[in-house]
Amino acid sequence: MYFDTAAERRGTNSVKWDKSSIMSICSNPDAEPFWVADMDFLPEEHAKAAGLRIAEKGVYGYPVFRTLEESASHWLKVRHDWEVPAEDISYSMGLLHGVSTSISLFTAEDARILVPSPMYRPFREITENLGRTLVEHNLSYDSNTHTFSIDRKRFREDASTSDAILFCSPQNPSGIVFPEEELEFILRTAKEFSIPVISDEIHSDLTHASAKHVPMGKANEGIGADVITLFAPSKTFNIAGEHCSFIVFSDSAKKEAFRKHERAARLDEPSIMIGELTEAVYRNGIDYNRELCAYLEGTAEEMAKLLEKLDSPLHVVRGHASFVTFVDCSAIYEKAKAYVESHEDEFPGGEGGGILSRFFGVKASVCANDGTWFGPAWQDFVRFNYGTSRKNVLAALERMDKAAKSL
Ligand SMILES: Cc1ncc(COP(=O)(O)O)c(C=O)c1O
Repeated sequence: MYFDTAAERRGTNSVKWDKSSIMSICSNPDAEPFWVADMDFLPEEHAKAAGLRIAEKGVYGYPVFRTLEESASHWLKVRHDWEVPAEDISYSMGLLHGVSTSISLFTAEDARILVPSPMYRPFREITENLGRTLVEHNLSYDSNTHTFSIDRKRFREDASTSDAILFCSPQNPSGIVFPEEELEFILRTAKEFSIPVISDEIHSDLTHASAKHVPMGKANEGIGADVITLFAPSKTFNIAGEHCSFIVFSDSAKKEAFRKHERAARLDEPSIMIGELTEAVYRNGIDYNRELCAYLEGTAEEMAKLLEKLDSPLHVVRGHASFVTFVDCSAIYEKAKAYVESHEDEFPGGEGGGILSRFFGVKASVCANDGTWFGPAWQDFVRFNYGTSRKNVLAALERMDKAAKSL
């Protein structure tokens, strides 16, 4: 099968496979990488063909793209059944650029930004670097079902003292897909307190067939909150190194302000490479997307089955989207901590990681992100990236299980 073959990424300037990055997270430069949210699969074939076409011609001059937003509009309709006219879609040079610029432009300097946690760490960095106050809202974790959910009462309380909500749907790191009624609750809450919702949906195209992702902007149609929905082809088609994303603003004044800002900053035009790749995949990539989602869902099921068969102390959080998931290691955290702290010489470096990432790096040769990267409350977890061949994923989990049981 196409996805059973992982691309050889050593020697390609891949941060995921960079030994010093791996070392800093898990104290072992030779550990196999299951960390940063970047897949090892070969890219969608039309993306590859577009890249080759450009390279063969050797023409890298100034491009112009007249139909990029139309292609994005086509994709939203085909993948999410959301009809958005091309003129309402704005290009942004990467998703985080869109998040950061939206916070700068549409919140006051002393704004409080509510972010559900565990959170993708750049949300914290962007909020704090812009001088805003982070309102870290811990999601509720059920240790029996291994799922996260929103405690509506607490969420409403936090929203009542916030100036914007920064949301991630589906969620990174857990892969949780939020039901539509949960999104509607968030939208109604935002409307009640007159605050915007910025919704990062970079993982949405990778929602597995057993779940349904509803774009925030679509859920908002009968509600009328102020919503900024961001999406991108980068994770979906494995072209993340070429930054490109799109934004749908429910408020046309915000759309105009964003475009004006981008023109002034000279950031309103994509490069030749990402423009051509994006058009190719948004027009032709639906079959690849369906096959990839099925492969990822199959891997997630096999991971859960394997840990059950092994009667493992580790548990996978069963999100239904993307290729990242949290692994609940609470049953062994204290023992792992005692081990790491009493054998410091076995765990050199590791300044970018924590107890569990270093433990599994050295004892299982698996490099996964430490849970604390996603917020201080999540020390019992690691985030595991299963976007590579299933064989490698299951072998890595077996090694983690063995290391956990050795304590
Ligand atoms: C939730 C989320 N948002 C944004 C990004 C990065 O997007 P970009 O590279 O387009 O800025 C990532 C990458 O891991 C992500 O997981």
